Amino acid sequence: MVKEDENNQAPETSSNGLLVVKNLTKRFGTNVVLDNVSLTIEKGKTTIVIGPSGCGKTVLIKHLLVLLRPNSGEVYFKNRRIDNLGENELNRLRTHYGFLFQGGALFDSLSVFENIIFPIKQHCEITSWGQVEELVKAKLAMVGLDGFQNYYPAQLSGGQRKRVALARAIALSPEVILYDEPTTGLDPVRGDVISELIMKLQRELGVTTVVVTHDMTSAYKIADRIIMLHNGKIIADGDAEHIRNYPHPVVQQFINGQVSEDDLAVLRMSGTISQAQFLPRDFEQ
Ligand SMILES: Nc1ncnc2c1ncn2[C@@H]1O[C@H](COP(=O)(O)OP(=O)(O)OP(=O)(O)O)[C@@H](O)[C@H]1O
Ligand SMILES: [Mg+2]
Repeated sequence: MVKEDENNQAPETSSNGLLVVKNLTKRFGTNVVLDNVSLTIEKGKTTIVIGPSGCGKTVLIKHLLVLLRPNSGEVYFKNRRIDNLGENELNRLRTHYGFLFQGGALFDSLSVFENIIFPIKQHCEITSWGQVEELVKAKLAMVGLDGFQNYYPAQLSGGQRKRVALARAIALSPEVILYDEPTTGLDPVRGDVISELIMKLQRELGVTTVVVTHDMTSAYKIADRIIMLHNGKIIADGDAEHIRNYPHPVVQQFINGQVSEDDLAVLRMSGTISQAQFLPRDFEQ
């Protein structure tokens, strides 16, 4: 057996973590999105990432999949450093992950069946179509969409589409599932169905779950742990009770959906709406 390079081992203190992020900094030009962030995601638990729009939640979970690479810092999966792997190794690694991207995009020209088998075709040599059909049926049953194999995305509601995307995310029986805004765009009942499904998958498949969300009802319901990102840093980290009572004003404003004084000042300073209104006659000669 090949011994792992010492530099590719996770730090001693993080051995309980399935995923470990260590001193991660990510910049785009001069925009420092993640500033020396460290985080350990525990196996079998549900970790929720919250924070204002644009604070770097999607950027953070893209690093867990190495869809983005850090400017500095490291990412580990099962004690193995992954942020420096080549694309072939990353492709193999990603078979351990299921992910539901923001928007949950399905391929519109493919049927539900074809959408769900997409990752299987990408990563495996299919030898038994009978087995694949059984698998698709089982995954669809798991998300409550029995018999929807031959539908096309355009024939489904937003909530149903998210559930098909979820069935696709679990096609390869992942150990970790990453969800980016899974309830956005759904009414509260449909959103709650997704929260229940996330909990069910975690219970029945024993997966490690990471969810990015703005939906505090969902976050409180499903979280073992909630972390809040702000200005490139983790400013709060704990269970739902801890976050609810955390005295930091930015945390309280966020979880209670209140606009901050800074944001209000920007709104007050910007031009009035009437200054920005134009009528068709304004463009006439
Ligand atoms: N590929 C990229 N190139 C340049 N800048 C990027 C890129 N991806 C993200 N950013 C910037 O990084 C910052 C964080 O983006 P990110 O998508 O992580 O925000 P978010 O917290 O997920 O927001 P939202 O809640 O709106 O989804 C933003 O300022 C964004 O413009
Ligand atoms: Mg995002």
